[in-house]
Amino acid sequence: MVVLIGFMGAGKSTVGRIVADLLGVPFIDSDVLIEQREGMSIRSMFDTYGEPHFRAVERAVVTELLGDDRAVLALGGGAALDPAIRAMLVSHTVVYLQVPYRQALDRVRDDRYRPLLRTAGVRELYDTRLPVYESVATIRIDTGRRRPDDIAREIVSALES
Ligand code: S3P
Repeated sequence: MVVLIGFMGAGKSTVGRIVADLLGVPFIDSDVLIEQREGMSIRSMFDTYGEPHFRAVERAVVTELLGDDRAVLALGGGAALDPAIRAMLVSHTVVYLQVPYRQALDRVRDDRYRPLLRTAGVRELYDTRLPVYESVATIRIDTGRRRPDDIAREIVSALES
């Protein structure tokens, strides 16, 4: 399994879909699966049941997904913070999409469906997460000011080498 991690706005879903196409394998977005499973948006999940509930569902869904072998999986930006998920990631190829803070925000700032963007301390979240992403990554890709297809091609060649 090729797993994409990184902060909100890193391009995990956009790039992940292209990588899956290039490899000829299915693309899975864990956030989409979570919303389908729960029958509500992540935003409503946060509003109605709170973040801990979302994290519990996320852990359950990601645990199941990591059982599949031939796919590209994009994880939500907070998934790798969960120790149980991190422990499972060691047996997969983990691609960390690095994005400078300003660019991440520029890409997602107006998205009302990302509840954590409405909270204070997004910068702090970014700073504390970076070392965690770094620690589980097997491949690191700089996405700054690059096109998704260019990033995807770099990932595929890194996977092949
Ligand atoms: C989250 C990121 C979101 C989504 C949820 C929580 C986070 O996914 O899982 O809103 O904690 O960073 P994206 O990284 O795809 O925006």
